[in-house]
Amino acid sequence: VRAGRCVVAVDGPSGSGKSTVSRRLAAGLGARYLDTGAMYRAITWAVLRSGVDLADAAAVGKVAEEVELRIGTDPQGYGVTVDGVNVDREIRGPEVTGAVSAVAAVPAVRALLVARQRELITHAGRIVVEGRDIGAVVAPDADLKVYLTASEAARARRRSAEDAVDVAATAADLARRDRLDSTRTVDPLRQSADAVELDTTELGIDEVVDRLRGLLTERGVA
Ligand code: DC
Repeated sequence: VRAGRCVVAVDGPSGSGKSTVSRRLAAGLGARYLDTGAMYRAITWAVLRSGVDLADAAAVGKVAEEVELRIGTDPQGYGVTVDGVNVDREIRGPEVTGAVSAVAAVPAVRALLVARQRELITHAGRIVVEGRDIGAVVAPDADLKVYLTASEAARARRRSAEDAVDVAATAADLARRDRLDSTRTVDPLRQSADAVELDTTELGIDEVVDRLRGLLTERGVA
């Protein structure tokens, strides 16, 4: 283990508890935190604003290349800006959520964001990174790889509570996004062979965080 460096990769589908767990783990470790989903969402916001056709991969890739995307890595509150405009709220809205899987499936978008993510990780030194392809693609040499899962019902319940929308509508939307995210040709959501799988259906956030702290201690990395 390199001194002062610690990368924790947290992957899993939406509603698995990834964001809350990752932020809390990072804060407890005094580490940085990177929400890679927010980066895909920010590019999606820019694509929607530009008016280009979501099905036009070349045009979508061009928008991604031309915008200036900035994201903070403070677990207590990070800001996402696109061309200097803060989009923290907009990227959680239904328009972005409905379009993000299509944008995240564009190879040029992924290549660009994976490169940015690796830069941010290198600068941070100690960081918890959450997404779909972190252990497999972005940080294959992470000190700990975690794959969080939860039953579909639990995931829909959590997401609808966060977004204040109906559970049935959320369940349908989650199923649609999972299908798109798991079946796309470039870097689909998948579990790395060396990731520790944790089913969070019956666990509280603090229990999950404690288990991860325990795994890091066992490995002598934090
Ligand atoms: O975690 P989230 O819901 O904010 O992610 C938004 C979308 O971005 C999700 O549909 C999948 C995609 N994504 C991805 O393809 N790769 C990542 N590393 C993170 C998110």
